[in-house]
Amino acid sequence: MATNHLSILFVASEVEGLIKSGGLADVAKALPEALLTLDQDVRIAIPAYSLIPNVEHAEVILETTLNSWPHTAYQVVSLKVGDVPVYGIRCDEYFDRPAMYAENNQAYMDNGERFAFFSAACLDMLPKLDFRPDIVHANDWHTGFVPYLLKHRHGHDEFFASMKSVISIHNAVFKGVFSYNELQCLPEMHSFYVPEAAVSNSHVTMLKAAVACADKINAVSPTYAEELKTELGSHGMAQEFQSRACDLVGILNGCDYSAWNPETDSALPKTYKANRQSMVRGKNAAKSALQEKVGLGQSDVAMYGMVCRLTNQKGVHYLLPILENFLKFDVQLVIVGTGDPVLAHQLAAISNKYPDRFKFVEAYNNELAHLVEAGSDFFLMPSEFEPCGLNQIYSMAYGTLPIVRAVGGLKDSVNDYDANPEVATGFIFEEPSPQALLNVMMRSLLLYVQQPNEVKRVQLYAMQQEFSWVESAKEYIELYMSAKA
Ligand code: GLC
Repeated sequence: MATNHLSILFVASEVEGLIKSGGLADVAKALPEALLTLDQDVRIAIPAYSLIPNVEHAEVILETTLNSWPHTAYQVVSLKVGDVPVYGIRCDEYFDRPAMYAENNQAYMDNGERFAFFSAACLDMLPKLDFRPDIVHANDWHTGFVPYLLKHRHGHDEFFASMKSVISIHNAVFKGVFSYNELQCLPEMHSFYVPEAAVSNSHVTMLKAAVACADKINAVSPTYAEELKTELGSHGMAQEFQSRACDLVGILNGCDYSAWNPETDSALPKTYKANRQSMVRGKNAAKSALQEKVGLGQSDVAMYGMVCRLTNQKGVHYLLPILENFLKFDVQLVIVGTGDPVLAHQLAAISNKYPDRFKFVEAYNNELAHLVEAGSDFFLMPSEFEPCGLNQIYSMAYGTLPIVRAVGGLKDSVNDYDANPEVATGFIFEEPSPQALLNVMMRSLLLYVQQPNEVKRVQLYAMQQEFSWVESAKEYIELYMSAKA
């Protein structure tokens, strides 16, 4: 393939290395880095949240006001993620807060306005910075107005005329639903009639605006792209996705092996590589360290790990009803996560009741996440839906077998043991129910107890799989080229 040289502005609300709340941030770091290694001129735009370490010392490269009403004043500061240049949009009124999106589980009241402003500023700054990307790549609802404004606000301006937009859907359950009243910072909303974005007479969604206006749409796995076209899997936007089916593709996320690699991971007591002896030693050391850290007894029983946002999306509601049944067996389980206080409370109660077998750590802790990935034998991801999922990919890299439901990217990345042991990398179950989850957990436990060597063989095979971001980035370049065609 001849290398196509493109310039790309990658717009996201969070980027690992600067600030992160979930998988979107991992992608927003790793994909631009992979595009850079493929010789593309890629730059990132992100809000310059005051939470970003040292952001106050970043060089100001532009001081301006929006050309359009309400002429909000903002600055662009220069940041970097690896070798990728980052434009931080600074506007303290919107981004100087104690959190990115929400405090105490309450979303900020003006999130619509904050991210509408951010989307507007990302385009407004381009002529002023003399950067004219071929592609503006938006991500999720926060940046959903980027494709909309590119088409409607800037489409007739010569500077923008040939610019194309792409929207990546990382999670369509979050749509960015706001009333016209909340979005009066955009003159385009003053008519109170924007059919491309409207979901009712009074409300619009930012994601719908993006799906209507972007030149190309991509979901973060092939299966999720298919699911989005169905009533069941689209979170209420099936029609919109069906009508753009020709422009919708699914590209599986990769693994950032610079951050998730047991050979170099400084969070592990003993690094290890993909050969049997090294893996067994490294995983044993990690298991012991994990047990010590969370306060479980030192023992070589099967260790199950789970690291996630506590929401029903992640299948916590399938796990809770069967958890106590499972804890009757000689196993250990560690769950690390924050989120829904009701789910947290229920997990904490069970954790207190079975202190020798189960620890629930209510925290968002990257270092502990690494230790859970390495020190577990099995990793639970019983998601109700999962656009891609990254932890199952990290698990495989660490020789930990993911137990996943057959949805979205989980289905695309894991091979089930019972379907074909030769190429297995984990366990898959279909039915969205607690019983189906218990069954698959029992399948894994049985294998662990009866055939420990076989488990190690499969773990080693999982470690040898590669989910390369560079390969995914090549698919993105093809998508960008098709947007330009
Ligand atoms: C969202 C999705 C997750 C996906 C991630 C990155 O967090 O829920 O499935 O892996 O975005 O695309």
